[in-house]
Amino acid sequence: MYSIIQKALFTQDAEWSHDFTINWLRRTQNTPLDWVYRQNLPAKPVEILGLTFKNPLGLAAGLDKNGECIDAFAAMGFGFIEIGTVTPRAQAGNDKPRMFRLPAGQAIINRMGFNNKGVDNLVANVKNARFDGVLGINIGKNKDTPEDSALSDYLICLQKVYEHASYITINISSPNTPGLRNLQHGNALNDLLAGLKTEQLKLADKYKKYSPVLVKIAPDLNQGEIENMGNALIKAEIDGVIATNTTLDRSLVEGQPNAEQAGGLSGAVLRHKSQQVAEQLALVLDGVIPMIGVGGIHDAMSAKDRIKAGSSLIQLYSSLIYRGPKVIKEIVESL
Ligand code: FNR
Repeated sequence: MYSIIQKALFTQDAEWSHDFTINWLRRTQNTPLDWVYRQNLPAKPVEILGLTFKNPLGLAAGLDKNGECIDAFAAMGFGFIEIGTVTPRAQAGNDKPRMFRLPAGQAIINRMGFNNKGVDNLVANVKNARFDGVLGINIGKNKDTPEDSALSDYLICLQKVYEHASYITINISSPNTPGLRNLQHGNALNDLLAGLKTEQLKLADKYKKYSPVLVKIAPDLNQGEIENMGNALIKAEIDGVIATNTTLDRSLVEGQPNAEQAGGLSGAVLRHKSQQVAEQLALVLDGVIPMIGVGGIHDAMSAKDRIKAGSSLIQLYSSLIYRGPKVIKEIVESL
């Protein structure tokens, strides 16, 4: 069924297809029409981060930025769902076009720039969802918030989503918000992590509920930067890490149409780069902090490899676009 729908969608602009699909999922979730994408998958529970995940495969952030289709993605069989990135205030994101397909590498380049309806809208959507599984909420900063005030944006989002999230992801690795990736280094990183940890503990006390905080990192860190990152996360007692976001590296798609578009590259071509970062990070973390692997996971083998590389859980985005819900079934059944 998806291959027919995909053929039609792939004749249209990438973002138009995305918006059309999100709207359709939003309208059909929790109705009999959800048979089109509903899948009953075997339970493969994972206990980690103090949470029980139905299975180890989750939806990566960025597909459901406003948390509008949580029940539809749950019906597809994901073991957990991450929504966002959300920012304190609604923002339009970058000028269109800003999303491009590179079918030869089952890849996507995007420079969306955190287009979203703001954190209050997302929280309202979460309250309306029926889903009772693990829900991650991925938070970021508004584009017009100065880099040295980033912490205040993350704190606003953390405070607003804390009660409603199973875990919270700190996104400091999107390449499409100027300066955001600078937060991955040195004092900027240490100050951010310390500020977030202090607030997390206050909120845990207020709500009598501990929601783990995870940090999502870029695949473009070198060996030294990965070591520094791992050590900083351990020192700040961050609960987990998500590796990785999209890459700026274009060598993976050289010569392909759209390869020179600015933005972050994702999809099957990212697999090995992302896997390498995960392997290097796993050596530094040494099991102290759990890892969620994401980037180029598109079939049973890439999923298994990432778990072997030290990821307790995995996520995907681009392969859902190229392969449809059956990729979830194939991976979950194989694990
Ligand atoms: C993303 N991704 C992303 N990540 C994030 O933390 N916040 C976000 O808002 C977005 N937005 C976004 C939009 C689009 C169009 C794409 C393709 C990706 C990154 C995503 O979650 C994931 O880390 C990467 O795409 C790598 O995984 P895949 O796509 O190779 O499975």
